[in-house]
Parts: sequence; structure tokens; C-alpha cells
Amino acid sequence: MNIGIIGTGNMGSGLGKLWAGKGHKVLFGSRDPQKANTLASSIGPNASGGTIADAAKFGEAVLLATPWAATRDAINAAGSLVGKILIDCTNPLAPDYMSLVVGHTTSGAEEIAKWATGAKVVKAFNAVFAQVLHSGNPLFGSEPATIFYCGDDAQAKGIVAGLITELDFEAIDAGPLKNARALEPLGELFVQLGYGLGMGTNIAVKVLRR
Ligand SMILES: NC(=O)c1ccc[n+]([C@@H]2O[C@H](COP(=O)([O-])OP(=O)(O)OC[C@H]3O[C@@H](n4cnc5c(N)ncnc54)[C@H](OP(=O)(O)O)[C@@H]3O)[C@@H](O)[C@H]2O)c1
Repeated sequence: MNIGIIGTGNMGSGLGKLWAGKGHKVLFGSRDPQKANTLASSIGPNASGGTIADAAKFGEAVLLATPWAATRDAINAAGSLVGKILIDCTNPLAPDYMSLVVGHTTSGAEEIAKWATGAKVVKAFNAVFAQVLHSGNPLFGSEPATIFYCGDDAQAKGIVAGLITELDFEAIDAGPLKNARALEPLGELFVQLGYGLGMGTNIAVKVLRR
């Protein structure tokens, strides 16, 4: 499928490269299209670059991979996202990354759904380190890391679940979009574990069942 990527940083480049490697057409959208073109050239023929609006127009699914403080501006720069599957991997982190600035009674994802009128927002990939994506290996031992996703549109969630599992992660449906209120603190926990508490970024969550 055609996937637009908004933001050419750690998450955007990591997921874009993996999806391009699975045969999807990926268009990186940047404030600096030249930067997006350079990234796309490093990935290969399935990737291209352009503006943020180009990425929004191109993608049946559009990944939002921007710092929280820039996210509303990025959505505004995207133009119409009506009918698009908007995959939200952001976390509403404070500038020092050590807390969330939104929570309990709403979530970053729910705010994004208000800003991106008509988009089908699915929260996903917010609690996996970009370094795990760039490592090219979703396995920890023999186990795939878990990627939770949540949203209110069943069809959009099904497509995002496919985009997770084809990267060899385990996809777990975490319910409606308001459950981003629980997933975003999980993302913050991983920031605390990885950076605040010194565990590093080669860690991931796994749900055990019996
Ligand atoms: N890094 C992780 O391990 C990780 C894991 C899970 C979730 N997240 C979340 O994912 C999001 C992206 O994280 P990241 O690590 O990929 O960040 P990053 O490396 O800083 O990249 C973010 C990208 O957003 C774009 N951007 C910056 N300011 C912008 C603005 N004012 N308007 C529009 N676009 C702007 C930039 O791309 P251009 O310069 O090309 O425009 C930038 O490269 C964050 O919300 C973060 O909390 C990160």
C-alpha cells in the first residue's frame, strides 16, 4: 500500500525503511523535502520524498512521527487527512522527556483525532524504541516484541495490525482510542527505563499468556 510518513527522524525513518523493505511504497514528508529525498535515496526505489502535504496526500495510511510540541503544526501542514488511516506513534512528552503533558482524562491520540478532522486515528508503535526498529530484528530471543494498537475504526485497526505483524512484531488490540490514555504512559515508562534508569534501548514489552 502507499504509506505517507510525516517526520524523517528516528521513528519515521525506522518504520518507513521497514515498510519499504516489505514492498510498500513510502513517501517521506518533511519540512525540508531535500532531507526527505536524501533519506528516500538511502532506502531505495520503494521510497520517495516530498513535503508534509505530499506525504498526507500520498498515503492510504499516514504515520505521524513528530515531537509532541510539533505535532499540531505538522497536522496543519498536512492539509486534509479526511478518510486517511493516521498511525500515531507520538508520545506527549514534556520537553525533558521525563513526564507526559497530557493524560488521565484525554490522551495525545485523542487530541490528534480532534486536530486531524476526518482521519481514522490508530495509536501504535509508541512504546517501542526506534533503535529496535533500526536494528532490523523484532525478536528478543525467539519472541517477537509486542506492539499495542488502539483506535475506534475497526477496518483501520485491521490494516494497522497487518502493518505491525508483517514487520514480525506481535500486534495486540488494546481497544478504543481512549485506551491511548494507558498506552502513552507505557511509552513514558520505556523512556524512564531506557534513559532515566539506564536499561538502554534494546528492550521491549511482551505480553505473556497461559
Ligand atoms: N525515538 C523513539 O524511540 C520513540 C519511540 C516511540 C515513540 N516515539 C515518539 O515518536 C515521535 C517521534 O520521535 P522521534 O524519536 O522519531 O523524533 P525525532 O527523531 O526528533 O524526529 C521527529 C521528526 O519530526 C519532524 N519535525 C520536527 N519538528 C517539526 C515541526 N515543527 N513540524 C513538523 N515536523 C517536525 C522532523 O522531521 P523533518 O525535519 O523531516 O520535518 C523530525 O525529524 C515522538 O512523539 C516520540 O515521543 C519515539
